[in-house]
Amino acid sequence: MKALKIPCILIHVALILLCLRTQICYGQDYPDAESPPAPPAPPPGQDLCNGIFLTYNFMGRELLYPHLKNASAQAWAFKAMATVVNAGSEELKAWKLFVGFRHREILVSATGATIIDGGDFPAAVGNGTTFVGNPQADLKTAIETAGDYPQISAQIEIKGTQFGVKPPTIPMPKSLKLVNDGYLCPAAKNDGSYMYTCCKKDPKFKAPPVKSTKFAPRQNGDLLLSYDVMQAYGNNYLAQVTMENEHPLGRLDHWNLTWEWQNNEFISQMRGAFTHKKDISGCLYGPAGKYYKEFDFSQVVNCEKKPIISDLPATYFNDTKLGKLPYCCRNGSLLPKLMDESKATSVFQLTVFKLPPHDNRTALVPPMKWQIRGDLNPNYRCGPPIRVEPTEFPDPSGLQSTTTAVASWQVVCNITKSEIKQSSCCVSFSAYYNESIIPCPTCACGCPDPEKCNPKAKAMLLPSEALLVPFSNRTNKVVAWAGLKHLPIPKPLPCPDNCGVSINWHVSTDYKDGWTARVTLFNWDTLPFEDWFLAVKMDKAFDGYENVYSFNGTRLPNKENKTLFFQGLEGLNYLVGLTNGTRPGEPQVPGKQQSVISFLKKKTPNIDVQRGDGFPAKVYFNGEECALPKDFPKRDAAHKSAVNIVLIIFITVLTFVLIQDR
Ligand SMILES: *[C@@H]1O[C@H](CO)[C@@H](O)[C@H](O)[C@H]1NC(C)=O
Ligand SMILES: *[C@@H]1O[C@H](CO)[C@@H](O)[C@H](O)[C@H]1NC(C)=O
Ligand SMILES: *[C@@H]1O[C@H](CO)[C@@H](O)[C@H](O)[C@H]1NC(C)=O
Ligand SMILES: *[C@@H]1O[C@H](CO)[C@@H](O)[C@H](O)[C@H]1NC(C)=O
Ligand SMILES: *[C@@H]1O[C@H](CO)[C@@H](O)[C@H](O)[C@H]1NC(C)=O
Ligand SMILES: *[C@@H]1O[C@H](CO)[C@@H](O)[C@H](O)[C@H]1NC(C)=O
Ligand SMILES: *[C@@H]1O[C@H](CO)[C@@H](O)[C@H](O)[C@H]1NC(C)=O
Ligand SMILES: *[C@@H]1O[C@H](CO)[C@@H](O)[C@H](O)[C@H]1NC(C)=O
Ligand SMILES: *[C@@H]1O[C@H](CO)[C@@H](O)[C@H](O)[C@H]1NC(C)=O
Ligand SMILES: *[C@@H]1O[C@H](CO)[C@@H](O)[C@H](O)[C@H]1NC(C)=O
Ligand SMILES: *[C@@H]1O[C@H](CO)[C@@H](O)[C@H](O)[C@H]1NC(C)=O
Ligand SMILES: *[C@@H]1O[C@H](CO)[C@@H](O)[C@H](O)[C@H]1NC(C)=O
Repeated sequence: MKALKIPCILIHVALILLCLRTQICYGQDYPDAESPPAPPAPPPGQDLCNGIFLTYNFMGRELLYPHLKNASAQAWAFKAMATVVNAGSEELKAWKLFVGFRHREILVSATGATIIDGGDFPAAVGNGTTFVGNPQADLKTAIETAGDYPQISAQIEIKGTQFGVKPPTIPMPKSLKLVNDGYLCPAAKNDGSYMYTCCKKDPKFKAPPVKSTKFAPRQNGDLLLSYDVMQAYGNNYLAQVTMENEHPLGRLDHWNLTWEWQNNEFISQMRGAFTHKKDISGCLYGPAGKYYKEFDFSQVVNCEKKPIISDLPATYFNDTKLGKLPYCCRNGSLLPKLMDESKATSVFQLTVFKLPPHDNRTALVPPMKWQIRGDLNPNYRCGPPIRVEPTEFPDPSGLQSTTTAVASWQVVCNITKSEIKQSSCCVSFSAYYNESIIPCPTCACGCPDPEKCNPKAKAMLLPSEALLVPFSNRTNKVVAWAGLKHLPIPKPLPCPDNCGVSINWHVSTDYKDGWTARVTLFNWDTLPFEDWFLAVKMDKAFDGYENVYSFNGTRLPNKENKTLFFQGLEGLNYLVGLTNGTRPGEPQVPGKQQSVISFLKKKTPNIDVQRGDGFPAKVYFNGEECALPKDFPKRDAAHKSAVNIVLIIFITVLTFVLIQDR
C-alpha cells in the first residue's frame, strides 16, 4: 500500500519513464546508450495486481480555437494512453476495455485499438466507449511468454477533442473497466492524471461450455456475420461471408455491406454478390499495381479500400460463374426466421489478393469496420471481427464428414435506435365511436421542406375519406372537417408525416365478449414491398388475440414481448406501390392491404378497449418501428351520458308502462 502514497510528481516521472521505455523497446534497432536500460518500475498499482491491470493516463491538452469565455463550451485537444496488461494466469481473449468518457469527447484516433461499433473516426464518445484490440486482440500470460511485455499488454494511444473543464482540473473519465464476460473490476482509483484498476476473474461466473479454449467464444446478437477463410494460398485466399438474422423482427431489404481492408487487399472474384463500383484504378495506381506487375487487373472485381457489396438478384441463382451457392441471390433480402427459415441466411464468397508482407498462407487479416444497411429497415451497428473457433461446414458431397474453415471471424451487429434517424412509417388511430381519425404525427418521418408548412403544429384530425388520398390532396378535406367540428386551423398548416408507409388501426367493434380491429397498410412509395410483415405490441390485449382474417398472423414466441406478428398470406404478400389515379386529374392511389383482427375478452377481463387498451403500444413494419400518435380517439363523454340518460328514461318509462299494463 505504501507505493500508492508516493507524491504525484514521482508518479508522473515514473509514467514518463514508462512511456519512453516502451518507445525504446518498440523501436527495434535503436542506437542506444552504452549500458542496457534498467528494467523500469511497473506503473503504480500494477505490482499488486494478479489479474487484468487497466490504466488510463491523461497526457495533456491544448486549447483549441475558437477561444471562448464560456468555459463549458471551450474545446480542447487532448492525448491519453490507456493500457491493458494481463498480469493473471489465463490468456485474455478479445479484450474489451470500457472507458467512461464524460466530457463530450470526440475521438480522432486510437492506435492499437478500434472502438466496438466499428464506426469511423471522428467518433462522439461522450457517454463512454469500448475499445477492442486491433491488431492485438488477445493478451497472453507472462508465464507463456517469459514476461514478454508486448505480448501480454496492449497500449491505446488516444487523441481527441473534449469540452469544458477549466485547468487545473484534469478531465478524467468517470470509469475504467474490462467488459469481457467473467471479469469483475473494482471502481478505478484516480490519482490526478492517472487512473487504474485491477480486474479479477469472477469466481461465480460459469463460462458456457466450449470445445476448445483456443479462441474467443461466439457471441449472440441480432445479426451474426461470419468471415470464414475456406482455402488459403500464398498470396490469396477464398473467404465466405455468412449472415444470419437472429432477431425476431430483424430484416434487411436490398442490403449493402461495406468494410475496410487493412492491408491493401483487393477482391479478384466474387460469387453470390457483387460490388457497386468496378473501378480498377485503385489497383493500377496503388500498391497492388506496383507489386503485381504482370497481373491482368481488367478481370478484378473491386479495388476499393471500402467496397460496397450487394446481393445478386434471384436470376443469378443458377449461374455457374456467379451463383450456385446455397442461400445466395435473393436481391438483398434477409427475413426473420419466423417468416422463412431458409430466407434468414445469406451467403457469398470472395477471392482476396494480398500484398507483402502478408503474402504468405497464414497471414490472414479480416477487413474491419463492418457496416450493413437496407432500405426501410432497422439500423444495425456492427462490432469488430473477433477470431473464433473455425466454422464447421457439412460436406457438400452429403457424406457424414465436415470441412472446417482455415480461420473464422465473427462480426456481431445489433439493432440500434439512433436519435438522428427518423422513422419510415407511421400509424393513425380511429374508432367506430368517433368520426375523426387521429392522423400520423407531423413530420413523423422527417421534414425536408419545413418552410412552407408548420413542423411544430399538431396534425389535424381527418375525416375517414381523407385517409385514402396523398397528403398534398387532403388539404381541402381537412380544413373543411376542422370547420365542421369547430377545431382550430393552424397557420401555416401542419407539415405532412412524409412517411413511405402508413398504417391505420381502427377499432371497429367492441361488445361484451370481444372486440375487433381493422388494420390497413398504405404504401405511398412507388416501390412495392414483397414479403412485408407487421408486428404489433398489444400490452393489455395480447392474451385475447383470437384470429386475423386475411393475413397470416401468429404470436411472437417470446410471450414477454406481447407482440403479434402478421404477414401476407401466400400469394398476397405483395404490398404494391403508389399508382396514378384511374382517370387523369385524380389523385394518386396508395398500395393497400387490409385485414380484421379479432380479440376475445375472456382472458383479459379488465380490458377497456375505448380507453386505449384497444390500440397498440408499438408497431413495426418490416422491422422498423413506426411513429405513433400521442392520443386515442375519445368517446364523447357528453354524448355517451346523453345516450345513457335517454336509455334510463326509456327503460323507466317502459317499466312503468309494463307495470301499468298488468
Ligand atoms: C455555455 O456553454 C454551454 C454548453 O455549450 C451552454 O449549455 C451554456 O448555456 C453556456 N453558458 C452561457 C452563459 O452562455
Ligand atoms: C449520451 O446519452 C444521452 C442520453 O442517453 C444522449 O442523449 C446523448 O446523445 C448521448 N451522447 C452521445 C455522444 O452518444
Ligand atoms: C433488386 O433490387 C434492386 C434495388 O436494389 C431493384 O431496383 C430491383 O428491381 C430488384 N430486382 C428484382 C428482380 O426484384
Ligand atoms: C434453378 O435451377 C433449379 C433446378 O434446375 C430450378 O428448379 C430453379 O427454378 C432454378 N432457379 C432459377 C432462379 O432459375
Ligand atoms: C403462415 O406463416 C407460417 C410461418 O411463416 C407458415 O408456416 C404457414 O404456412 C403460413 N400459413 C398460411 C395459411 O399461409
Ligand atoms: C507468415 O506470416 C505469419 C504472420 O505474419 C508469420 O507468423 C509467419 O512466420 C509467416 N510464415 C512464413 C513462412 O513466412
Ligand atoms: C446501396 O449502395 C448503392 C450504391 O452506392 C446505392 O445506390 C443504394 O442506394 C444503397 N442502398 C441502400 C439500401 O443503402
Ligand atoms: C449485441 O447484443 C448482445 C446481446 O443481445 C450483446 O451480448 C453483444 O455484446 C452486443 N454486441 C454489440 C456489438 O453491441
Ligand atoms: C393532388 O396533389 C398533387 C400534388 O400537389 C397535384 O399535382 C394534383 O393536382 C392534386 N390532385 C387533385 C385531384 O387535387
Ligand atoms: C422481447 O423481450 C425481450 C426480453 O424482455 C427483449 O430483450 C427483446 O428486446 C424484446 N424484443 C422485441 C422485439 O421487443
Ligand atoms: C402517372 O402520371 C404521371 C403524370 O401525371 C406520368 O408522368 C406517369 O407516367 C404516370 N405513371 C403511370 C404508371 O401511368
Ligand atoms: C373524437 O376524438 C377526438 C380526439 O381524441 C376528440 O377531440 C373529439 O372530441 C372526439 N369526438 C367525439 C365526437 O367524441
